[in-house]
Amino acid sequence: MNPFSTGIGWHLAPEDSPSGIGGGQDEEAGPADGFVGPQPPFARKMSPATFINFGMRISQTMFEDAPNAPGVLAYPVSGRATPTLMVYSPAYVKSLLVVDPALAPSATRMSPLRPILGPDSVLTAIGDRHKRQRALLMPQFHGRSIANYREGIEKATARHLDSWPVGKPVAVADIGQEITLDVIMQAIFGVAEKSDATPAENRLRRSVIRLLRLSTTTTARVAQMINARREDPNFAQRMVLAPMDRAIFEVIGERRAGSRSGHDILSVLLTATTEDGDSLSDSEIRDELVTLLLAGHETTSNTTAWAFERLTRHRAVYDAARDAAASGDDDYLEAVLNETMRSRPVVPVFGREVLVPWRLGPHVAPAGSVVLASSLLLHHRDDLYPRPFAFDPERFVGVKPAPNTLMPFGGGNRRCLGSTLAMAELRIVTGEILRRVDLQTHDRPGERPVNRNVTMIPGDGGTVVATRVR
Ligand code: HEM
Repeated sequence: MNPFSTGIGWHLAPEDSPSGIGGGQDEEAGPADGFVGPQPPFARKMSPATFINFGMRISQTMFEDAPNAPGVLAYPVSGRATPTLMVYSPAYVKSLLVVDPALAPSATRMSPLRPILGPDSVLTAIGDRHKRQRALLMPQFHGRSIANYREGIEKATARHLDSWPVGKPVAVADIGQEITLDVIMQAIFGVAEKSDATPAENRLRRSVIRLLRLSTTTTARVAQMINARREDPNFAQRMVLAPMDRAIFEVIGERRAGSRSGHDILSVLLTATTEDGDSLSDSEIRDELVTLLLAGHETTSNTTAWAFERLTRHRAVYDAARDAAASGDDDYLEAVLNETMRSRPVVPVFGREVLVPWRLGPHVAPAGSVVLASSLLLHHRDDLYPRPFAFDPERFVGVKPAPNTLMPFGGGNRRCLGSTLAMAELRIVTGEILRRVDLQTHDRPGERPVNRNVTMIPGDGGTVVATRVR
């Protein structure tokens, strides 16, 4: 029986229950090239109202529908002739990533992120513009650059752990956010500490925190879904974005006036030119900065929060992770992080728009369909990960995951630009917390995953209580 059709939240599934998720293994997938087959059947009906609800509880919906489907879920989209599909077999996911991106460009420009990030960011652009922006930013996120950020990450972590209160419930996501914001502010603006920043840079930092707090409210999440697939922000979103945009344009103005220069990302963007010799406009730079600020910290802070949400509810694993951190056993810590991102990927789907008919085993998706690769479902297939609801880092110890089976950072030409930075932050921050702070759970069952925009975050921010801080 499908345990999720009984109304149980997937996050509370008993560790030994099977997920019943499978299908699509080893089947042919990719541009149909003349292959004819039926469209995948719809998993459920969808009205505009249920579409909003669907977006807000997309993780739960996937688990409810997948056990009855053949490796692909199809949903009708009101006002569009083509469906939205969700795929979760390695073969189907791979087909989207290895193909010429012109046939299956990223669908982020059609996601709820588009009105917030704007049209000109590396995340929302496609084609030549995407290629150019990615090539421009890539060196900033390579291994050598990350080594330069290491000291900044260590210092930011130490600063924020010193003030961790004992005996009081604390959301790890909040502490993680302070650390990861410091790190990304340093990467983008070259500012190591708040005291070195200009007033506009500090206002920008505060407005980013406020924007994320507001975006967790139900009203904001409904507003995002109502505005999904529209290109521009709606009134509510404009109101929320305005203070951040004002601060960003002020910072760009200061830097154009020569307030500071260096090897930070903003300096790179300010001096970059296109093949035609044009420089980037303020609004193009704004889109890039908002993308890096938002993509570059809340994913990492919520992954840290999920790590401790899981660890504090699995005492034996917590103790093993603490011992590993103390003895410098990086392999086990890496396995803990992989298991966290397997069981709670903060970006549970990533999408492409297929511009030609697309074969998925016996089915064909029409050209124009949005196909979402569901890392959340892929990571919970019984055939890839036995006991998928157990939190068990041992499954990754000394094991390299098979290709296209562990995909928290997506893949292909759109694979997360910040994955090396994110992993460096996760290793340092998680290791340091394990070494310096003794934590226990806030004494609740597992936290409810909340879908906010494109992320899946812990409902209580990974709330824990410190019993001792060293
Ligand atoms: C645990 C942390 C993170 C996770 C789980 C994560 C996950 C993802 C995913 C799933 C994608 C979409 C990939 C695809 O469509 O194939 C993505 C894209 C992206 N991420 Fe991350 N991310 C994280 C941290 C970061 C950080 C620290 C940065 C740094 C600035 C960053 C910047 C980006 C950018 C710019 C893109 C767009 C890449 C493109 O379209 O070419 N991310 N990320």
